[in-house]
Amino acid sequence: MRLNGKVAIVTGAANGIGLATVRKFASEGAICVVADLDPAQVDAAVTGLLRDGAQARGFAVDVTDRESVDLMVMKTLDAWGRIDVLVNNAGITADARLLKMTAEQFDRVIDVNLRGVFNCSQAVADTMVGQGRGVILNASSVVGLYGNFGQTNYAATKAGVIAFAKTWARELGPKGVRVNAVCPGFVATHILDTIPAKVLEQMTSRVPLGRLARPEEIANVYAFLASDEASYVNGAVIEVGGGMSV
Ligand code: NAI
Repeated sequence: MRLNGKVAIVTGAANGIGLATVRKFASEGAICVVADLDPAQVDAAVTGLLRDGAQARGFAVDVTDRESVDLMVMKTLDAWGRIDVLVNNAGITADARLLKMTAEQFDRVIDVNLRGVFNCSQAVADTMVGQGRGVILNASSVVGLYGNFGQTNYAATKAGVIAFAKTWARELGPKGVRVNAVCPGFVATHILDTIPAKVLEQMTSRVPLGRLARPEEIANVYAFLASDEASYVNGAVIEVGGGMSV
């Protein structure tokens, strides 16, 4: 029970890696806050956690909307009096080649993947500094390290959240708050739904482990980083890509 009693907010936690993360955190004893867009999906995720005996609560939150983020943070503090972990996991894609990408596609991805991470982190940072401890984990991607065809906007945001993590590790580390970035490779979730099967096959063939990751394999890394076992890990960029960059 590495996260016993820790209060953890996970954004985008109704699906995919975020859902696997709250399940893993709950199994390690954490009190989980599920933050996602769709109230019905949030309810379903929370119901599952409660059924498994966890303490959990959900909020329909759009990470781009600072007011709804602040309300979630306030209500979390009302309920449990502290926030130990924030996983900035909510993310979207809107792919197009540079020559075809619209300003709307560019802005939409920047807004969720970059401004959303800024909003949530700024909203919890005061509390964590006041506690003298806390952990912020940013969902980056191998794409943020190496770029990717058709993902100008997405790659920029994923590189951006690495820069956030390194900057906040310097600013908040002295106050007891650790900040790290995780770079998954290709993970079997809905975010890959728009990628043609043939392209997916090509992508998988470049991975030495020969397959996509399961969401749980990323959640395990978040659980380690959120726990006191990672007490000296700060400003780190952890690649979880099945060896695809070797
Ligand atoms: P997913 O699409 O399965 O889940 C993303 C969740 O974020 C959804 O539940 C969605 O409703 C939520 N979300 C989207 N916009 C939101 C907003 N404005 N406010 C609140 N919630 C919002 O995606 P997946 O694959 O689980 O991705 C999770 C994170 O991991 C993302 O940041 C993604 O970029 C990153 N990632 C995923 C990889 C993959 O291959 N699946 C690889 C590398 C990184």
